[in-house]
Amino acid sequence: MFLAFNPIDSIKLIIFDNMHLKLRFCSPFIALASMFALIQAPISSQAAGEKKLEVFSWWTSGGEAAALDALFNTFKKQNPGVEIINATVAGGGGSAAQPVLQTRLAGGNPPDTWQSHPGYEMFAKYVEPGYCEEITELYKTDGWDKAFPKGIVDIVTKDGKTYAVLAGVHRGNVLWYNKKLLEKNGITIGDKIGFDEFFAACDKLKKAGVAALGVGDSGIWASAQLFENTLLGVVGPQGWSDLFSGKMKWDDPQVKKAMGYFAKMQDYLNPDHAAMSWDQAIGALMEGKVAFSSMGDWAQGEFLKAKNQDYGWVSHPGTDGSFIVVADGFVLAKGAPHKEAALAWLKSIGSKEAQEAFNPLKGSIPARTDVDKSKFDAYHQWSMGSFAKDKLLPSCVHGVAAPPAFKQSLEDAVTAFIVDKNVDNFANALVQAAKESESQ
Ligand code: BGC
Repeated sequence: MFLAFNPIDSIKLIIFDNMHLKLRFCSPFIALASMFALIQAPISSQAAGEKKLEVFSWWTSGGEAAALDALFNTFKKQNPGVEIINATVAGGGGSAAQPVLQTRLAGGNPPDTWQSHPGYEMFAKYVEPGYCEEITELYKTDGWDKAFPKGIVDIVTKDGKTYAVLAGVHRGNVLWYNKKLLEKNGITIGDKIGFDEFFAACDKLKKAGVAALGVGDSGIWASAQLFENTLLGVVGPQGWSDLFSGKMKWDDPQVKKAMGYFAKMQDYLNPDHAAMSWDQAIGALMEGKVAFSSMGDWAQGEFLKAKNQDYGWVSHPGTDGSFIVVADGFVLAKGAPHKEAALAWLKSIGSKEAQEAFNPLKGSIPARTDVDKSKFDAYHQWSMGSFAKDKLLPSCVHGVAAPPAFKQSLEDAVTAFIVDKNVDNFANALVQAAKESESQ
């Protein structure tokens, strides 16, 4: 259907092959002399009044903002005198930012650079409609061709043209927990967890009057992510590949089993989940109001920001051995109002200094391989280990694995399912969405 997996080399290159978008990610570089000249030009040579840079993202939670600030500080050190316009739109997963960005792009009012996930999101929403300029030449400077693994460059490259620099790589399938609360309730978590053990823990907590599973789905993507993680936990990495390549159908008994687990999880949620954001749910975990939360490792940024020590983590039930990839890239706008500054920004976030400053605060691991690992905490060491040895699978909820229309249908189906808990309706909606995506 959407993509074919081709695990190659250490980072297990993911090749996306889409009938509709006809995307092929490959990496031969094309020289662009004019861009090269721009990259080489010192930022100080810009005309007066041009020393500005507008960076668009959705990084507004405590941990996200702190990490973004680290990128800004590195940029400012490297490019003194450039004023940064921090254009953020709150809403986890880009749920509110992406529509705002789309309006700006359609109206010919682009920010200089914006946050985007590689894969379908970046190519379908931004590259194909012509909103981005390639930055292939950038990868020839500063030894980037050696510092960034080929697989990382490949996922932001199409037809030999590279469009983004990755600031970091998140792991989507992490189950976070409050150690003290679990201990108080006689629950211990080992180095992996299955669904039976997880639900047994939830039952115990429920009996003790504790909301076992913290969700903040004021943005429905957070619940869609809980489903995504649960789906992987049931179908496994091969099933994931089969589902997104069309070999497994969305009404397969395995998918329905995952939907059943997802329905069961609803019995253990915090009652105020629909009014909370993802980071508020992590806050509730820190306060001991909920015991678990299944969330990408941007949650680590929240624990760090709060200087919390009482949390633990394990792969989401059933997903040990798999790493759901949610990478954050930045692109260059076609017609960027401050192009030189934008190129300097991209060059900066790809620098070792920026990657070492940003990722320890954000919870992600650096896209570069030559960073000083001693700058990273125990969680990051775990995640880096997982990235090196586990199966790398693209996230659907964070735009990598499937076209935006399918992702939207998934979120709509999750919204309906939370209300009606009807597995057949849920499965049929996804079968239909997959068909529509294929035929477009
Ligand atoms: C992004 C992360 C971000 C998270 C929550 C994801 O889509 O990749 O960088 O922290 O959403 O906002």
